[in-house]
Amino acid sequence: MSGYDLSRPVLDQLREAADIVAVIGDHLTLRKTGRNYVGLCPFHGEKTPSFNVSREKGTYYCFGCKRGGDVIDFVMEIERVQFAEAVERLADRFGVRLPPASPQARRRKDEQEQLAEVMEAAQAVFVRHLADDRPRAFLERRAVPLEVAAEFGLGYAKGEWRVLYDELRKRFPERVLIAAGLVVEGDEGRVWDRFRDRVTIPIRNVRGRIIAYGGRALGDENPKYLNSPETSLFSKSQVLFQLDRAARAFASASRAIVVEGYFDCIALHQAGLIETVATLGTALSEQHARELARRVPRVVVCFDGDTAGRQAAVAALRTLLAASLDVSVLLLPEGQDPDDVVRREGGERFQARVAAAFPADAFLLEMMGSTRQERRRNLLRTLEIVDACPDPVRRFEMRETLAHGAGVPLEELGSLGAPHVVARQATAEGLPEQAEMALLRSFLHDLEPTRSAAFIREFPVDGICHPGVRRVIEILQRRTAEGAVVELTGVLSEITEPLDRRLLASLEHEAPQTPQERIPSLIELVRRRSDRLKSARLIARIREAEIAGDTEALAQLKAEQSELIKKRSKPS
Ligand code: UTP
Ligand code: MN
Repeated sequence: MSGYDLSRPVLDQLREAADIVAVIGDHLTLRKTGRNYVGLCPFHGEKTPSFNVSREKGTYYCFGCKRGGDVIDFVMEIERVQFAEAVERLADRFGVRLPPASPQARRRKDEQEQLAEVMEAAQAVFVRHLADDRPRAFLERRAVPLEVAAEFGLGYAKGEWRVLYDELRKRFPERVLIAAGLVVEGDEGRVWDRFRDRVTIPIRNVRGRIIAYGGRALGDENPKYLNSPETSLFSKSQVLFQLDRAARAFASASRAIVVEGYFDCIALHQAGLIETVATLGTALSEQHARELARRVPRVVVCFDGDTAGRQAAVAALRTLLAASLDVSVLLLPEGQDPDDVVRREGGERFQARVAAAFPADAFLLEMMGSTRQERRRNLLRTLEIVDACPDPVRRFEMRETLAHGAGVPLEELGSLGAPHVVARQATAEGLPEQAEMALLRSFLHDLEPTRSAAFIREFPVDGICHPGVRRVIEILQRRTAEGAVVELTGVLSEITEPLDRRLLASLEHEAPQTPQERIPSLIELVRRRSDRLKSARLIARIREAEIAGDTEALAQLKAEQSELIKKRSKPS
């Protein structure tokens, strides 16, 4: 972490001062063409230049490898340094004085570092007790050898009330132990250890630092697992267990495996499937999906074959598809988890299971039912899941499989909840993504900021298919509501997600330019798509309510439907 104040105004000042053409010019020869510069991309081998730089906008973008961003992104990528380091190097070069971090920021940083230290100190205590009889017996029962326990840092929190507290209190203030979630504070200032008589499992961030613990009861006590609470180091919906180790195996395995349990993950690592991560007792979140998407193209979801597991798999699949990941699903026999199966069958058999996992569409088809009639009944709802996939070609393939499996010709789906078909009818200019990019480009590059703001304020954002475009427009809407001027650098300074940053950098270079007078009609198309989506969803829900015989819901849905029809028939 930096000792400087890297808040937005400071970064804006740096971006202003740092000449992107000069910075990039150090690494490749740039030639001026019109307003921009081009050169040979430094990130992938090429013979004809597809690397573009815009001095005016302060961005770069490569048509070949799709890398792009602002001057800070470039330094991070080419010099392989973290954000703060890149900022400091640029500030140094362009003579920008970075103000020291505010006292609050410094305090926050000190506190974070202290929390990290506490977590390490606790680890030493837990590990020391793993050789006690009770945890030893537990590990034996579960067939976890001591070397494996050591490799994963398993430990033991003793059964008394204040073992860890007494030990750590010598070196850390009580409030830090509480903030780290290791000690619980009750009424009247009484304090005690959170983890007692449990096997402890350290949870690390991607850089390998301990940020939380899971605690497994030794027997059948409730709760089976006790986890660290949310702290300033740890947020459950963002962390994947063993991502630090798994990330190193992603490239050679060219996939990630996602399981639900700590010991499932450990058992698969033990069996050589090091590309495995686990969610921590939560559903797979959008942040989890993004963490994976930036590191690996393909994910195999491996859940229990019972009803809950199947439902969790469908939900995870939608979230992963939306993050542009290629997804397969491996369902295990009912009532068995990966830990059980891999121990019984061994790593090789498990590898074969993973290799034979269902591709997303085949899995969904299975889930739709065993008869055509059942599949037909579930078709619309299932199509909605694959519509989360932003890639139009893959989406089309999956839709085709599903429609075929239900015995419904794809063309018949044109008017029913098929956003991409709707979009194709709606836009004359080919892929809907391109029209969406064209609109975003107009807002950020071509229109007068005040006109952009007027369009953005009323924009029907849920008619946008591309998740990145949608996120950017949502940010623009919020900024506009706060009275900020619509411009690229402002948005860039709020977006940290690399894929979204690339999208923004690509706009000026890759998105088609739209004549100003066409913009209102393009927006109208998005609005119509938004309405059609709403209506398709309503139709699907009305069918469901009909099948379930839920008259109350049915009346409510029908009312919503006629409201929508009324709104749509009004000329806007
Ligand atoms: P499971 O109940 O499937 O347990 O919970 P498991 O992983 O098979 O555990 P073992 O093999 O009996 O030890 C799956 C995951 O959900 C979270 C944990 O991350 C667990 O690994 N969980 C479960 C909790 O956080 N708290 C609980 O009380 C139970
Ligand atoms: Mn288990």
